[in-house]
Amino acid sequence: MGQSGSMSCRMEILLFIMYVFCLQISCGMQENRICTAAEEWQCMDTTSSSKLLIKGGTVVNADRQQLADVYIEDGVIVAVQPNIQVADEVRILDASGKYVMPGGIDPHTHLEMPFMGQTAIDDFFSGQAAALAGGTTMHIDFVIPSNGSLAEGFEAYAKKAEKSCMDYAFHMAVTSWNEGVARDMEILVKEKGINSFKFFMAYKGSLMVNDEVLLKGFKMCKDLGALAQVHAENGDAVAEGQSRMIKLGITGPEGHALSRPSMLEGEATARAIRLAKFVNTPLYVVHVMSIDALDEIVRARKSGQRVIGEPVVSGLVLDDSKLWDPDFMIAAQYVMSPPIRSSGHNQALRAALSTGLLQLVGTDHCSFNSTQKEAGLNDFRKIPNGVNGIEERMHLIWDVMVNSGQISVMDYVRITSTACAQIFNIYPRKGAILPNSDADIIILNPNATFQITAKSHHSKMDTNVYEGWAGKGKVEVTISRGKIVWEHDRLMIQRGSGQYISMPPFGYLFDGIDKIDSTYLSSLKAPVYRRGI
Ligand code: URP
Ligand code: ZN
Ligand code: ZN
Repeated sequence: MGQSGSMSCRMEILLFIMYVFCLQISCGMQENRICTAAEEWQCMDTTSSSKLLIKGGTVVNADRQQLADVYIEDGVIVAVQPNIQVADEVRILDASGKYVMPGGIDPHTHLEMPFMGQTAIDDFFSGQAAALAGGTTMHIDFVIPSNGSLAEGFEAYAKKAEKSCMDYAFHMAVTSWNEGVARDMEILVKEKGINSFKFFMAYKGSLMVNDEVLLKGFKMCKDLGALAQVHAENGDAVAEGQSRMIKLGITGPEGHALSRPSMLEGEATARAIRLAKFVNTPLYVVHVMSIDALDEIVRARKSGQRVIGEPVVSGLVLDDSKLWDPDFMIAAQYVMSPPIRSSGHNQALRAALSTGLLQLVGTDHCSFNSTQKEAGLNDFRKIPNGVNGIEERMHLIWDVMVNSGQISVMDYVRITSTACAQIFNIYPRKGAILPNSDADIIILNPNATFQITAKSHHSKMDTNVYEGWAGKGKVEVTISRGKIVWEHDRLMIQRGSGQYISMPPFGYLFDGIDKIDSTYLSSLKAPVYRRGI
């Protein structure tokens, strides 16, 4: 090769390097990967104006709905009233005939979670992209301790979440007990914006804690003004149930459901409720999947105890039939804990949600693809537990509960957004369309249709437990902090644009707890002072 040949070769290399560099910048430096065509949607920069007027829609809050315009500036709602006039530079979105509602808040997700020897495949970018495409603008993810350390776990999750494209907050899991754990709980609440701790009563040998840890943890939560949360299943009995199934030669996904019947969920729910009552601290039961657990929550609430029940979308709209599918790869998709129950449980959970016996809806989005689920081909105990839902929750709840007339549109806003913001003490910054609230907003067209399929969803999963679902009521626009991030079926999102939301302790569930304590202490009529002792 002559000199000019080697020059042009060097030139080409230089141009190629520049091209790669530019691609990386336009993709927000995606972990040093170049975007493939399929990922193109992930890389689009948001270009929307910082001033926005949503005109002519029905604005729905949890307590009121009205025909009004919504004016947004710099990510915050400035005004909500009819006939707002604006200057020419303001972008106007026509919402006539549509509902304008607070963006969904998902109280229960597991992005990039290390679990059962695998890592959940949706990370803080792909999971949040999926969320935004489905009308959810904030989620609360569960931090898992690293090497037994809560502080280390928090740092690891903060790092993972740097790629976020929407707002997020954290719950913290407590999976063991020692002085370090207690100290970290205090630091996390006082300095890091955590106001809830989850205790796993199942997953023996990994995340599960015993009653002693529950009691110590609940007491610490109470002192800190943090909400105690439980995954309520009797883990010892589940382990026994699993051995029983294997001995019977039942090794497939149906063994998962058979090994952990609803009575074990009911037992653990009742136990957690009683321990929380003994400590006099509020309790939040995550992923309520059965009538057994529901009955315990309702009984406690009737007695005046502060217990929050969170069903998840899979438990509300699916049943266990797919676990018996002859194709392992289909059946394994539906393995989650507590298990999706037989039909009847879902109806009872929906009824309870519609009347306020249960308070809010999560997803428990914890996605594993086919190759990951395959780990349990010969033993259901090795199938990583978890299903998708972060993108589908808002559509499915609308389709199943609003379209059927079971709940009002205001109820819809309450169970998908407002109740979560109130429980976790970030209302009305989130969960409301009010002046000064963050402009996290969706525009839902009740006459448009949606269809769910893994071919077009935004999760990294290669399957979808709601595959083929066709329904009515579509989120046409999602606005996150005043920016249009979903419109015309296209995402316009930016890595790193999501912000961490600190959640302060002592939310409304703690109001009056001290008075109940005083009443209890004065009711004891003790100690009795005895002469001479
Ligand atoms: O199956 C589930 N639910 N996976 C995520 C972990 C949990 O228990 O929430
Ligand atoms: Zn759980
Ligand atoms: Zn979960």
